[in-house]
Amino acid sequence: MKFQGKTVIVTGGAMGIGRSIVEGFLAEGANIVIADCSNADDAAKDLDKTGDRVVGVSCDVSSQSDTEQMAKTALDKFGRIDVLVNNAGIYSSLKPTAFEDLDVDEWKRVLEVNVMGQALSSRAVVPTMRKQGDGRIINISSGTPFKGVPFMLHYVASKGAVNAMTKSLAKELGSAGILVNGVAPGFTMSDGVLANPEQIEKLQDISLKARVIQRDQMPEDIVGAVMYFASQESAFITGQTLVVDGGAYFH
Ligand SMILES: NC(=O)c1ccc[n+]([C@@H]2O[C@H](COP(=O)([O-])OP(=O)(O)OC[C@H]3O[C@@H](n4cnc5c(N)ncnc54)[C@H](O)[C@@H]3O)[C@@H](O)[C@H]2O)c1
Repeated sequence: MKFQGKTVIVTGGAMGIGRSIVEGFLAEGANIVIADCSNADDAAKDLDKTGDRVVGVSCDVSSQSDTEQMAKTALDKFGRIDVLVNNAGIYSSLKPTAFEDLDVDEWKRVLEVNVMGQALSSRAVVPTMRKQGDGRIINISSGTPFKGVPFMLHYVASKGAVNAMTKSLAKELGSAGILVNGVAPGFTMSDGVLANPEQIEKLQDISLKARVIQRDQMPEDIVGAVMYFASQESAFITGQTLVVDGGAYFH
């Protein structure tokens, strides 16, 4: 019950990695807001029929008004915001494509959701965290910008921007008692990935062979690192991004 009485917002928390993060915090006593553009309410009801500890809010993180509503819902329902996990992102639906052939609209949408989505969600919660004099923001990145993965330039650029924002935001918010860190997963068997056999065929074996720990990476593998950055144990750490990939890339 490490997070009893704390409020945790997880964007993209209805399924995949976000859903596992929600379940991890719930088991440790937190009150949760699932902010997702699909199935937020259903996911919340599935985990807590009473609605006392888990609420869903329909939110597209690339919309400023949606993210403001997300923060307001958390505050109205639970009275404080302790942790924001910026997990919502576009990944599994992207088809590996040569740089010259990437659709420009897709490129813009990836940047809008993966980069602006994290910036807007952070901006929505920071006024409350400043008032509290304390808060944690955890940005879900990816191993791809560390490795320089080809054929996904828009995605890799978006996660490189996430890593940069983690550092800059940590500097901007540190004096307010708000710590900002990132977690960068390797190729993970999330719900989105499992629904995309083409991606599994291309990446499962190659990712597994590149790891020290010889098994598939599962959404639950990411939860411990996220909870660590939300906990007292990491109270002197900020601006860092931890690669969680079974030992494929040493960062
Ligand atoms: N699965 C992987 O291999 C992998 C690896 C590294 C990083 N990541 C990152 O982890 C995060 C989660 O990935 P996943 O594989 O679990 O995804 P997923 O597709 O399984 O789930 C994504 C969730 O985010 C929600 N979402 C998407 N766009 C949104 C938006 N604009 N606003 C609000 N919610 C939105 C979806 O509705 C869904 O519930 C992403 O940021 C992704 O880039 C994934």
